[in-house]
Amino acid sequence: MKHVSNRMLNYLEPQMYARFTMLANQKGCVNLGQGFPNFAPPQFLREALSEEALTEQLQYTMTAGHPKLLNSAASFFQKRMGLQINIDKEIVVSSGAQSVLCCLMQGILNPNDEVIVFDPAFDLYRPLIEFSGGKHIGIPIKPKVLNNKEMMLKRYQNGQFIYTNDDEWEIDFTHLEQNEEYNKLAEILEKYPKIIVCEDAAYHHITFQNNEPFKYPRCITHPKLKEKSVCVMSAGKMFSATGLRVGFAIGNEDIIKGMKAAQTYHIFCLNPVNQTATARCLDYTADGLYFYSLRNLYQQQATKLLKGLIESRLNFNYWVPQGGYFVVTDISNIDIPNKYFIQNDVKVTRDFAFAHYMINEFGVVCIPCSPYYENKETGQNLVRWAFCKTDETISEAINRLQ
Ligand SMILES: Cc1ncc(COP(=O)(O)O)c(C=O)c1O
Repeated sequence: MKHVSNRMLNYLEPQMYARFTMLANQKGCVNLGQGFPNFAPPQFLREALSEEALTEQLQYTMTAGHPKLLNSAASFFQKRMGLQINIDKEIVVSSGAQSVLCCLMQGILNPNDEVIVFDPAFDLYRPLIEFSGGKHIGIPIKPKVLNNKEMMLKRYQNGQFIYTNDDEWEIDFTHLEQNEEYNKLAEILEKYPKIIVCEDAAYHHITFQNNEPFKYPRCITHPKLKEKSVCVMSAGKMFSATGLRVGFAIGNEDIIKGMKAAQTYHIFCLNPVNQTATARCLDYTADGLYFYSLRNLYQQQATKLLKGLIESRLNFNYWVPQGGYFVVTDISNIDIPNKYFIQNDVKVTRDFAFAHYMINEFGVVCIPCSPYYENKETGQNLVRWAFCKTDETISEAINRLQ
């Protein structure tokens, strides 16, 4: 591997999601692994894309984002979340939430800056932090919140890291959903002015039970935390089109400035057709109705899948999802044949053994959760199942698990 940089050496294999999707295709499995909707995106998105493709000038546009999209996003988030966004300073658009997160890490981290990530966390964060010279520090939280993907960036000048007093961290981040918990976080952060918080709100619009889409509290909507935070969102998730590749960061002016600089020397700007089409979709859905029906659909699918898993012949423990795309189950009660613990001559953790057991003996793909933990053992009894799938797909998976 003499031509590959050292920092890429751990990442040369295809990502877990791609590997499991490949296996699903090869073996004719029902794919509840990768989190992409397998139903058509809304017609208004297709129409916006085709009309914009015919009329939009296909030239470079502004690095921060196409002016039409910045305006529509500001107006959308004002209506849905009550945010007042200065479009010159407080928002940047990039190629999906992933690229937004990449600009974030590139834009703010100095060598050896430490980034606290609450586990379980999206396994994208670690490489993005490390590629930007930062240090990933995973801190486990209770599995009760497996749906939450809050991430906190802890950053000190000169790369110095100061451990906070344990007591202060007793705040239950698993419940960072009530205003009072945000108030407590604001109180703590007042003592540590160099800490900034990043909330990955890719699933912000898919909230169940009594939580309305976009109404769930966030740092960005908190009067004291707004100034020290950045919130990341994904138009691809909002419009059930993960290939749209449009994502937003809204937040502190300095953070956004760093991100724009990172983007300038990376993709420079995002393709204008997807941006202006997204702008039209945001205008069209600003009354929120589309998101209420989307969340109802996901709630229905989540309930159906969860019921199927509970009634299956496998003895799962489970959490009732409160939003997002996934049901997470605990597999500690399930016997897994020994042969699945060795994959390609390598011993694997229980969750991976279980995922291969599911593929080979049940024809259903799920995703192992140990990669979402710093300490892989913590997650080795957890697997996740995507419910952002059609009724037929979920029914077929349930049938196979009976
Ligand atoms: C928590 C989280 N953040 C960010 C992303 C990336 O979103 P996008 O598809 O907009 O890049 C994903 C995608 O799965 C995600 O699950």
